[in-house]
Amino acid sequence: MSAIKTINKIKDMQEYSDRIHEGGECMVFIPTMGFLHQGHLSLMKKGREVADVVVASIFVNPAQFGPNEDLAAYPRNIERDLELLEKEHVDIAFLPDAKEIYPNGFQTYVELNYLPNHLCGLSRPVLFRGVTTIVLKLFNIVKPHIAIFGQKDYQQLLVIKQMVCDLNYDIEVIGAPTVREKDGLAMSSRNSYLSSEERIHALSLYKSLKKAMEMVEAGVKDSSIIIKEATDIINSHPDTLIDYIEICDSETLDSMTTIDRPALMALAVKVGTTRLIDNMVLKP
Ligand code: PAJ
Repeated sequence: MSAIKTINKIKDMQEYSDRIHEGGECMVFIPTMGFLHQGHLSLMKKGREVADVVVASIFVNPAQFGPNEDLAAYPRNIERDLELLEKEHVDIAFLPDAKEIYPNGFQTYVELNYLPNHLCGLSRPVLFRGVTTIVLKLFNIVKPHIAIFGQKDYQQLLVIKQMVCDLNYDIEVIGAPTVREKDGLAMSSRNSYLSSEERIHALSLYKSLKKAMEMVEAGVKDSSIIIKEATDIINSHPDTLIDYIEICDSETLDSMTTIDRPALMALAVKVGTTRLIDNMVLKP
């Protein structure tokens, strides 16, 4: 049993937060859906550096999963997560109950007009409204000064930054770099779904991004040539299915045909039944 302090009730979390505010301490918040890996833990480490009090949440948010997605199968291991958070000296693990977060009659959602109409938002139509709604609710419950999100979910980071700006939330949002396995695969809770063969083929996401980086460094500016190369790398495996490969403006996410300034290359690929995403910023 881990000894980290856990809070389950919304009111208790708000009261704890009020006490931190009264004491004049700085609080950082890192929301997660659990099944923690080194990517998550890098955000906790960053949190420990920037604030006095570190709060992490674990909540598999039903509102961000579509009807045919993996909500029920999403991997969970709370005991292990709590031990890992304790090792990172996280002060509070907030573990709310879905019934308290979304009680009967719940009907208010936060939605952005533009950024979600790109990349993952197109293939997962409820994703970002679910993410912004839960993150805003968590911000109101935890009341942090700073919040940290990973660049692994680049579009999510942009969406949250935009929401915080649009709604004048007095919270500093920090982005943290993607943590990868030794061979380059971006860490993800969903990697646990992969068979050993799929795990090998999953590396093609990273390989195609690395290839793109090399091509841009060698002077290639035409996005379509790079996307074709990446498509070939991923399609060389029989069990991969490309959802999208895009090269786009790193702030608006609008497609870029010519890489004449730093551009985001983002991709989503199904390996077997597991949907994986990854991205890199290409700098000409
Ligand atoms: P989850 O996928 O658990 O990720 C929680 C945080 O960890 C996110 O900010 C994500 O970008 C970051 N993260 C995941 N893998 C990472 C990696 N390999 N390197 C660095 N950071 C990584 O993202 C969510 O949960 C949810 O959408 C959430 C924001 C909690 C809202 O429900």
